[in-house]
Amino acid sequence: IRIYVPKDACAIACGADEVAEAIAAAALAARQPVEIVRNGSRGMLWLEPMIEVVTDEGRIAYGPVEAGDVDGLFAAGFLTGGDHALRIGKPEEHPFLAKQTRLTFARCGIIDPASYEDYRAHGGYRGLERALTLGPAGIIEEVKTSGLRGRGGAGFPTAIKWKTVADAKGDQKYIVCNADEGDSGTFADRMIMEGDPFELIEGMTIAGIAVGATKGYVYTRSEYPHAIWAMEKAVEVARANGMLGANIAGSPYSFDMEVRMGAGAYVCGEETALLDSLEGKRGTVRAKPPLPAHKGLFQKPTVINNVLSLTAVPHILADGGQFYADFGMGRSRGTMPIQIAGNVKFGGLFETAFGITLGELVNDIGGGTATGKPVKAAQVGGPLGAYVPTWQFDLPFDYEAFAAKDALIGHGGIVVFDESSDLAKMARFAMEFCSVESCGKCTPCRIGSTRGVELMDKIIAGDRVTANLATLTDLCQTMKLGSLCALGGFTPYPVLSALNHFPEDFGAPPRVVL
Ligand code: NAI
Ligand code: SF4
Repeated sequence: IRIYVPKDACAIACGADEVAEAIAAAALAARQPVEIVRNGSRGMLWLEPMIEVVTDEGRIAYGPVEAGDVDGLFAAGFLTGGDHALRIGKPEEHPFLAKQTRLTFARCGIIDPASYEDYRAHGGYRGLERALTLGPAGIIEEVKTSGLRGRGGAGFPTAIKWKTVADAKGDQKYIVCNADEGDSGTFADRMIMEGDPFELIEGMTIAGIAVGATKGYVYTRSEYPHAIWAMEKAVEVARANGMLGANIAGSPYSFDMEVRMGAGAYVCGEETALLDSLEGKRGTVRAKPPLPAHKGLFQKPTVINNVLSLTAVPHILADGGQFYADFGMGRSRGTMPIQIAGNVKFGGLFETAFGITLGELVNDIGGGTATGKPVKAAQVGGPLGAYVPTWQFDLPFDYEAFAAKDALIGHGGIVVFDESSDLAKMARFAMEFCSVESCGKCTPCRIGSTRGVELMDKIIAGDRVTANLATLTDLCQTMKLGSLCALGGFTPYPVLSALNHFPEDFGAPPRVVL
């Protein structure tokens, strides 16, 4: 009897290791031969640890399971799908999963992340096989047809980036995966690395063939030990199966990769600071141009893509660019793995086509706040994203629609706040976050953020509010226009959105909503 117990960091934090041990002990005592597979998470995080047992009916889930529940589960006959208060039923029929369009996350939580055979049995490496028949120009054309845009946050067309690197001259080119997932409320990169690491390896390999790069690096953070372990294991297995190294899958192409760990600075998620860190230097932002596509890692032409951009690629190649482009709206094509977090009832990973509204995500999918109080706002796109008030919840998830409202979808993280939240304090937090994480290279960010904290302290204390708010607005404008990178340049988004939508929290007259 096969039982799946997630080895995902969230599930482990909720006691999955203890649950796995308890199941092994109970099975031994009951003389029941069981095989425990440590898989990724399905993404219904409020149900973790969610375990699944393979029965004649299919996989039956139970959750959230604690070690102390295991004896009761055995007594209820859970090995054959028996009834129990924690029985969820077939996971794919749960509304949270049934409503999704899972491409990138199609295998996550289903397969054994360490098994090459399982990956292949679930459609893995179909994309690479087709990529090998298309060759570099054909791969880039397919990615162009898909309309894929950078999922790290900026939404830059992936095919243009790849073409730039393919056309750049260089004796060595690199693929760098930005897995330094630093945004608050985001966990999609981590989940994929823990739950389906071969997908990232396949995506990076296809990118390498497309642009003529033979070496790849996954740059991730030290806070992600389980992801690092899963990635390193998968790299080893892929190499042993001839899918990394010289002559991949018997083809003339060579590509190999390794995993590198950062020390946890937020700014190392900025692509040029990341490159410095990867080169063994302090992570400091470089001025652009030159773009990394021309002079990147060790000054060589480099593709830097986020985990979610690279893991979309195998599906685009396997099923065709047009298949992918048929999902979405406007210029936002395909699917987006959205991460619902904060004060929300049903938090987790929800992959869906672009176009779903923020209100559907927070209220219908997320079930509103965990506290049961009315929602006040949602911060979308990490600590540098805007606070979107409920009266703008009809906003569709689309790069352009968000930009039109001075907001950003970023890496797809949504953090929900209830009516008791004080957004002036959150604006202060944004400035403080920037001052702590600033690399210090440019003045508007290094000094502006510290002055911003001071101003917010005065405003919160009720000191000359009107004059200080005017100075704060002026400071935000300077940071927005004068900062070298998105850290200083985007900090004004949470500050100004909080001020514009909730002026009463800042001691100013309330906004009139018509
Ligand atoms: P950007 O707009 O400067 O560049 C986007 C990408 O396109 C970069 O890789 C850049 O090198 C490339 N690019 C631009 N022009 C190009 C050209 N002509 N040819 C080839 N490549 C070209 O944006 P940036 O500063 O890289 O990222 C900002 C975004 O990062 C923000 O929107 C924010 O949402 C996101 N972000 C994400 C975080 C996360 O944890 N995932 C954390 C912080 C910010
Ligand atoms: Fe460094 Fe901040 Fe300037 Fe970015 S904006 S280069 S983090 S000082």
